[in-house]
Amino acid sequence: MLTGKNIILGICGGIAAYKTPHLVRLLTKSGANVKVLATASALKFVSELSLSTVSRGPVLGDMFAADRSAESDQTLHITLGEWADALVIAPATANTIARLSAGMCDDMLSVCFIALRPDKPVLLVPAMDGHMYESPSVRRNLSVLATQGCRILEPESGELASGQCGLGRMPEPELIVETLDEMLEPLPDSRLKGRQVLITAGPTREKIDDVRFLSNYSSGKMGFAIAAAAARRGAVVRIVTGPVSLATPSGVERIDVESAVEMMEASSRFFDECDIFIGAAAVADYRPETPVEGKLKKNEPTMEIRLVRNPDIIAAFSAGKRPAQLAIGFALETAGGIGYAKEKLENKGLDLVAFNVYDRSTSGFEVDTNVLTLLDRDGTVSELPLLSKEEAAGRLLDAVEQLLQ
Ligand code: C5P
Repeated sequence: MLTGKNIILGICGGIAAYKTPHLVRLLTKSGANVKVLATASALKFVSELSLSTVSRGPVLGDMFAADRSAESDQTLHITLGEWADALVIAPATANTIARLSAGMCDDMLSVCFIALRPDKPVLLVPAMDGHMYESPSVRRNLSVLATQGCRILEPESGELASGQCGLGRMPEPELIVETLDEMLEPLPDSRLKGRQVLITAGPTREKIDDVRFLSNYSSGKMGFAIAAAAARRGAVVRIVTGPVSLATPSGVERIDVESAVEMMEASSRFFDECDIFIGAAAVADYRPETPVEGKLKKNEPTMEIRLVRNPDIIAAFSAGKRPAQLAIGFALETAGGIGYAKEKLENKGLDLVAFNVYDRSTSGFEVDTNVLTLLDRDGTVSELPLLSKEEAAGRLLDAVEQLLQ
C-alpha cells in the first residue's frame, strides 16, 4: 500500500528516537519515499548520519538553513506540505504535542504540520514516561489534536527508559507502518459523500440570571469527532454547538450557540436541506422560566427557580422530516437502561439511537472514549467495544451508511 507514497517522518527528542532508522528502513522497504524532519533534540538521541543514510536524503530540521540547496529554500515547508501523502511523528514528545496543539510554527516539524494539506492524514506516536503521558496537559493536548483529525497510536506498556515499568513505550516500528498503511488505504466510496450532515454538540447553558446558568458536563467531543469523521468521508458538515473548548474540525461549518432555544433556532434553519441530523448535544431539558436581569441576591435561606421545558430539537426534526432524511440520536443513561434508548428511538421517531451508559472513566461526558450500543429502527442492535470517540464516530457513521442503502 505504501508504494510510491510520500511520507514525512517527524522525529522528536525522546529515547525511542533510537528506533527511527529502523522505522525509516521499513517505510522505504514497503515502497514509500521518506523525508525525515528531526527536531534539534531528536538529534541528541539518534544520529543524523544514520537517518540520512537510510532515508537517502538530508535530514531536515532547520527552517532557516544556511545551505540553500534546491530543497532547502524559504518555502520548503510549503513544498513539503504539498508533497506529503502523510505525516508521521514518532516519537511524539509532550513538548511537540503541546506545540502542535497550540498551532505553533517555530521549527520545521511544527511548520510542516500546519502546512500539510488538510486532507492528508497525520499519525502521532506519543512515547514518554507513563506519568507524563497521563498528565492532564498531555491528555488535553492529545485530545485537541485527535479532534482535529490526527490519529493517535497509543503507547504500549512495558519497560521504560527510566527503568520503571508502565505505559509510555513507543510501539514497534512494524506496528507504526501497519497503522499508516491502514490509514492510507483509500476509503471505500462513502455514501456520505456530498450529503448534508447537521450535528448538534456540547452542552447548553440556561440562564438563571446575567451571571449564572444551568448546564451539564458535556464536552462536545463525541459530536466533534462525528463531524470530523463525516467531513473526511466527503459529507458537507455543519455543527451547531453549545459552549465547548474544542477546535473546529477541518472542513466543518460551525455555529456557536448557548441555550437550547438558540440551538433549536440555529439548527432548524437547516432542517429542510440536511440529509442526516445527528443530535449529539446534551440539551438541557428545562430552562428557568424568567431569567433574572442582573444578579440574583441571596436574601432568603432557600430559593425556588421555576423551570419550563425546552424544545426537543431532534423530535422537532423527526416530526417534520421527509422519509429520506435520517434522524440519529444519542441516549445517555446513568445505569442500565437500554429500554430507555428503545423508548427514545420510538418516541422521538429516530432512525438510529446510540446508547451509552455514563461511566466517569470510560464513557459518556468529558472522557476521550466511549462504549456505544447502536439500535436502529429495524431492530438491529450492535454493541461496540470500548473505543476512542474518533473510532466510535467512524462506527456510528458506518451504521448510518447502512441505513442509507
Ligand atoms: O435528553 P435526551 O435523553 O432526551 O436526549 C436524547 C437525544 O435527543 C439526544 O440525541 C439529544 O441530542 C436529543 N435532544 C434534543 N433536544 C432536546 C433534548 C434532547 O435534540 N431538548
